[in-house]
Amino acid sequence: MSDIEKRKADHIQVSLEEDVANSHNYWDDLHLIHDSLPEVDLDEIDTTTVLFGRKLSAPLMVTAITGGYNDATKVNLNLAEACASLGIALGIGSQRAAIERGDRASYEVIRDVGVPLVVANLGAPQLIPQAHKEAFGTEQAREAMEMVGADVLAVHLNYLQEVAQPEGDTRARGCLDAIRSLAREVPCIAKETGAGISRETALRLKGAGVIGFDISGTSGTSFSKVELHRSRRMGNARCVAIGETFAEWGIPAPISVRLAQVGLPIIASGGIVDGLKAAKSIATGAQCAGLARAVLKDAMISAEAAEERLRTIIEELKVGMFLTGSSTVQQLASKKVVFTGPAREWGLEMEVI
Ligand SMILES: Cc1cc2nc3c(=O)[nH]c(=O)nc-3n(C[C@H](O)[C@H](O)[C@H](O)COP(=O)(O)O)c2cc1C
Repeated sequence: MSDIEKRKADHIQVSLEEDVANSHNYWDDLHLIHDSLPEVDLDEIDTTTVLFGRKLSAPLMVTAITGGYNDATKVNLNLAEACASLGIALGIGSQRAAIERGDRASYEVIRDVGVPLVVANLGAPQLIPQAHKEAFGTEQAREAMEMVGADVLAVHLNYLQEVAQPEGDTRARGCLDAIRSLAREVPCIAKETGAGISRETALRLKGAGVIGFDISGTSGTSFSKVELHRSRRMGNARCVAIGETFAEWGIPAPISVRLAQVGLPIIASGGIVDGLKAAKSIATGAQCAGLARAVLKDAMISAEAAEERLRTIIEELKVGMFLTGSSTVQQLASKKVVFTGPAREWGLEMEVI
């Protein structure tokens, strides 16, 4: 196994075996208001929505998880079949391995399966030169998109992960300009990986031409924790320390949804583990909810298991809509959200509630 393959396999293994979640899920601090008289039948509720011009049966996306090593092929195919069957969106894991080494098989499997919205994935650190590595440009971005039949490209912003990683790419100067160049040529969204996007960063990215955000804030998978467990296994004490110190670093996911309201579509991810949290994210201001780790275990088993897990989440979202008297996603988006506890403190401090 090459270094990238090993890293990708480690991420899955660590995410399944270790406690890698942020210690607090801020979605638990948010509450929707119960409507005792919904005046709509549960069966009548319409969860359909349109994101980046594509019709989805529900405002839900499985966000980037994996690719680039053998076992990833099955995981990605399972996810693609589940998302196609349900009519929801799918993001593929970082395609760096395919671009650098031509190892495309584990990515290409999601092409032509019938997923209504496919999101390709490259890292912002790869858009600028790193030590001994050349930068990716438009050609590689097009290749990544074509490989999976993507509608949009997610440029992931993962510097928290890179600093907690023994082999991390820590050059960041020039990323915004690189995103600007890319966004002129291909439809790009900016995607965090668990630390959230601030208002200032959202505005800079909008100025650079991105067409949306996946804010991926704190509440769910902490990549600092993922890397700390990897560093522990590799016996790298300094990276273990950094991983522990920054384990909870980032902007809470619901707060980032509010901060990133700059007139572009938002995918809310980080800690979405059930359909009620997905419903809360829509009422908070997102156009779509995103989740990764909540479906990982089932995606390792089979397409049917992944589909069942996601179907339950969609049903819960529908129940959340029913109990708030929302017959459409648009109506859910207009419902009041009550912020309590730590999310309220953040919201007041950041002046977004
Ligand atoms: C095992 C694993 C691998 C991931 N790999 C990627 C990746 O390659 N690219 C990316 O943009 N995000 C990646 N992510 C981040 C997720 O897409 C998501 O932003 C983050 O995990 C927060 O969502 P969650 O709390 O639902 O897991 C990965 C997440 C997990 C759990």
